[in-house]
Amino acid sequence: MELLELMKYRRSIRKYQDRQISRDDMETIIEAGIYAPNAGGGQRSIIVGVRNAELTEKIGRLNVARFDRLRLSGSYVSVEQPSIIDDPTMKSGFYGAPAVCVVFAMKNFLYSIPDAFCCAENMVLMAAELGISSCIIARGEETFTGESGETFLKEWSIPENYIARCFVTLGYCDGEYPQSKPRKAQRSKIIE
Ligand SMILES: Cc1cc2nc3c(=O)[nH]c(=O)nc-3n(C[C@H](O)[C@H](O)[C@H](O)COP(=O)(O)O)c2cc1C
Repeated sequence: MELLELMKYRRSIRKYQDRQISRDDMETIIEAGIYAPNAGGGQRSIIVGVRNAELTEKIGRLNVARFDRLRLSGSYVSVEQPSIIDDPTMKSGFYGAPAVCVVFAMKNFLYSIPDAFCCAENMVLMAAELGISSCIIARGEETFTGESGETFLKEWSIPENYIARCFVTLGYCDGEYPQSKPRKAQRSKIIE
């Protein structure tokens, strides 16, 4: 697909089939993340791909466990693809996706968060190109703070000075793929 067309087509997907993505596709999506622009050319972000539905569900539940809904009261995300903000009964922040990528970045680096989200953006576009649905998910910081979260960090050999900044869920859209969202007017201008 032509790049701008792909960008307009890509949507955040919050309903997934059970079907797992291939290891090759996960590697390609991670490679896209690794090639993201990065502050000072430091290439600091680390991406961990979890291609295991059970594990993804476990981490997805940790992701939502410490979610403070009160801070978001009044927010509304999507009718077609309700988010955990729209539906407080949801138990996983990953919406049943069979796979997820965790983006880690250095704790005390000024551009740690933008670096991580640049990776995530590259990854969701790559996924869309491969016909794989995705959603960028926040709350990386809270997800691994409890005992079971810390166990994952040890198992994956994440350096002490690193923190999860965001996630990219991956899988195949269950049901109809949502239409492109209309854009709000007057959000850009060109000065000559
Ligand atoms: C920084 C950032 C954080 C996000 N965090 C979440 C999240 O935690 N949960 C979620 O369901 N969607 C999350 N999203 C996805 C947005 O809700 C989604 O991009 C937005 O509603 C626009 O919809 P679209 O991606 O389908 O165009 C996040 C997106 C960004 C850029």
